[in-house]
Amino acid sequence: MGFKAKICVGFCLFVATLLISATITLGSSESNQEMMICKMKCEQTIGIDQEDEKPRCIKSCEKYHKEKGKWEREGDRGQRGDTSGSERGWGNDRQQRYSDNPYVFEDQHFTARLETEQGNVRVLQKFSDRSELFNGIEKYRASFLEAEPQTFIVPNYRDAEALIFVANGQGTITLIERDSRQSHNIKRGDLFHVPAGITVYLTNTDNNERLVLANILHSVSVPGDLQIFSVGGGDPESSFFNAFSHEVIEAAFNVDRESAQKLIGQQKQQQDIFKKATKEQIRSLAGEDKGRLWPFGDRKETSRHTSIYKNKPSVANENGILHEVDSKDFPDLQDINVAVSFFNITRGSMAGPFYNTKATQVLMILNGVGRFEMACPHLSEQTTRTHTGEINPRYEQVSSELRHGTVVVIPVGHPVVIEASGEQNLEVIGFGLNSDENEWFPLAGRENVLSRWEDEALELTFGFPAQEVKRVIQKQNQKLFFKGPARRGRASG
Ligand SMILES: *[C@@H]1O[C@H](CO)[C@@H](O)[C@H](O)[C@H]1NC(C)=O
Repeated sequence: MGFKAKICVGFCLFVATLLISATITLGSSESNQEMMICKMKCEQTIGIDQEDEKPRCIKSCEKYHKEKGKWEREGDRGQRGDTSGSERGWGNDRQQRYSDNPYVFEDQHFTARLETEQGNVRVLQKFSDRSELFNGIEKYRASFLEAEPQTFIVPNYRDAEALIFVANGQGTITLIERDSRQSHNIKRGDLFHVPAGITVYLTNTDNNERLVLANILHSVSVPGDLQIFSVGGGDPESSFFNAFSHEVIEAAFNVDRESAQKLIGQQKQQQDIFKKATKEQIRSLAGEDKGRLWPFGDRKETSRHTSIYKNKPSVANENGILHEVDSKDFPDLQDINVAVSFFNITRGSMAGPFYNTKATQVLMILNGVGRFEMACPHLSEQTTRTHTGEINPRYEQVSSELRHGTVVVIPVGHPVVIEASGEQNLEVIGFGLNSDENEWFPLAGRENVLSRWEDEALELTFGFPAQEVKRVIQKQNQKLFFKGPARRGRASG
């Protein structure tokens, strides 16, 4: 309660300051104001016990706005008829826009979080809590985990199948299976399956790099609910053993109370799943002094593990690269019914328009700044209150900025474009949920859906001679990745 109250006070202050600043800073640019708001949020949402997070937060505001400013100057897209309040900027209308746009998840939508000096975990709210449009993916959750160098994450298991993507850094992951222990070294680009109920522990073995994981979880018990089970990190409150009576635990382990207490933990330890490890502990956990080849462990290797870079790219040109892994390449994905796509979009370029035939795609932004646009029949239906959608649909533009940590959901069939800013490549990991027999189809460029239509179909549909229509459809000869508006503007002007 106390915590909620603090947020509310913070938020009211934030709104009040916003109103005041809006009236007294009429002359200053919109973007400065945004930066101020961003910094203010850093001050107010980060607790006193996490003081050292503030500089990082403030720095990321500065970096983001610098890049965004540059990007906005590059492209002149003010005249485009954006209809869903999709104008650039996220100032006063921000709250309003989010309620209209359930597809975009930002920092505040990560409702379960743990932030400590050695690392943090952020779990996105249930998709179906956000909107009933997501009832089809209600069993899935998305999360990020970041661990500082030389950090150990205490063993735990979950009531969910987990698919881990290593977005940055390297480490070791250890699974305790029924009759073996498996340790694998993991690095950027790796995909790892941790089955439900299997105990796992994780070590960031690097001396300098943060280990960053983007995860998709598929609940196997209560749809969309996630429970984590752990013997704790040394304090009784976080140990499931502590839920049993002393006598039962003493009997189960056949020890006295003092010994049992060692297992359950002592009050003096801080509750923390992230533990700073010594160099020797890291070396040992990483298998370096066991003289065994990778993967090392007590028994033979099971799969569980692949890399997004294992196959050659499915699409690659100067504007971007797409790497894909599905259950044919990595059978473990069947258990979760997920397919994985990694988009590395060159700065100033874009991917799409394309759509997925059966999968709902969850895009998690790993690096860079960008924007997405999507054609959506649902929102349009809501605003006009007509329910003729299926027969004579109207499409509304859904769009938003993208930056590190943004999550976007692209429902089945919805045409989408993902665009990188002019400053940096945009790196996006896409998890295709319910991916069984999914395919994606490009709607422009080489191999696009229209290019396969018969001449008569083109003529009858567009009302022009087929040759004229084809001239338009066939002009763009690259596949999936194209020069974005910003780069085109520069090239022709
Ligand atoms: C994305 O592409 C850039 C440029 O080719 C490359 O430097 C970068 O390492 C790539 N990122 C990933 C995660 O593969």
